[in-house]
Amino acid sequence: MRVGVLTGGGDCPGLNAVIRSVTKSLINHGQCEVLGIADGFEGLMEAQPRVKPLYWDEVSGILHMGGTVLGTSNSANPLRDAATLEQVGRNVQTLGLDVVVAIGGDGTMSLAHGLAQVGLQCVGVPKTIDNDIAHCERSFGFDTAVSTVTESLRRIESTANSHHRVMIVETMGRHAGWLALESGIAGAADIILLPEIDYDLQTIIRVCQEREQRQRYTIICIGEGAKESGTSLTVRERIEYSPDPVRLGGVGHVLRERLQPHLKSEVRTTVLGHVQRGGDPTPFDRVLATQFGHHAAQLVLQGSYGRMVTLERGVIGSVAISQVANTQRQVPLQHGLLVMARDIGISLGEAG
Ligand code: F6P
Repeated sequence: MRVGVLTGGGDCPGLNAVIRSVTKSLINHGQCEVLGIADGFEGLMEAQPRVKPLYWDEVSGILHMGGTVLGTSNSANPLRDAATLEQVGRNVQTLGLDVVVAIGGDGTMSLAHGLAQVGLQCVGVPKTIDNDIAHCERSFGFDTAVSTVTESLRRIESTANSHHRVMIVETMGRHAGWLALESGIAGAADIILLPEIDYDLQTIIRVCQEREQRQRYTIICIGEGAKESGTSLTVRERIEYSPDPVRLGGVGHVLRERLQPHLKSEVRTTVLGHVQRGGDPTPFDRVLATQFGHHAAQLVLQGSYGRMVTLERGVIGSVAISQVANTQRQVPLQHGLLVMARDIGISLGEAG
């Protein structure tokens, strides 16, 4: 059996652990040849596909490494036109690929689903620091990103305290606030703003003014997809044809401009950016990624194609990729962490 492995979408700590785990499981089975596909689906879109055999030695010593040894792309779209789609179909045939293990986020799962029409069978493995893939209550990479953001918030706090400033820290997490929420709680943010809850500027002004009288500094942790009530998302750029055509970023600066005129303290913004995606995975993410890779290999060996690895109620399983494509797992408005945050006096920017 010939199995391709690719990583698509934004990179994420733990990808190499999955590549290692799925490859070793398949090699150990004895009947499989594994091919690494370069740069996500892009490696299958050209007349000369970019692939290389993955042997045991290639995937040894990569467990702890951030990024992906296969490379990735979050702009390559094999569904963009009929010619590209046909090219992918031809490459799959020429390479004799029985199935491809596609490690990626919602964009990659949508592509995997769409490519079934040219005979490409996929097994999906969810990855994202955003933790927003349906049927996956914890994606690898998230724990590492939470640690990175939490550490940054701690560093920001000491300088905020010294200068009596309002410090806004912007995190990634496009349409879901899991990263801002968990990091904000762990990093002792005073105000946490999420894509799921449009914020009320007057509430934020009030909280900051009250703190000016007492603690004299305020930490605001804001997800990049958050927005003030009645306004639209802060879009950094749009990329034509990309499965993720809208790139966010900069809402922290927008909030600073809105807030500064109302406060005595100086307001500053730090956009954490890609530092959140980089670095070595935490032990938790290494273990989870290894489990996901192993489970994906079992799906391949059972012939359970068209399915994505899941984690629900602590149990690893699988679901049809079609059920995951084009969906997102946002923070439910009555989630226990939100209830707790409100109860302990963290403002979520809600009016009233
Ligand atoms: O989906 C993962 C993610 O890190 C998002 O949180 C973020 O909006 C996006 O990728 C950034 O992508 P890029 O690397 O293209 O800026």
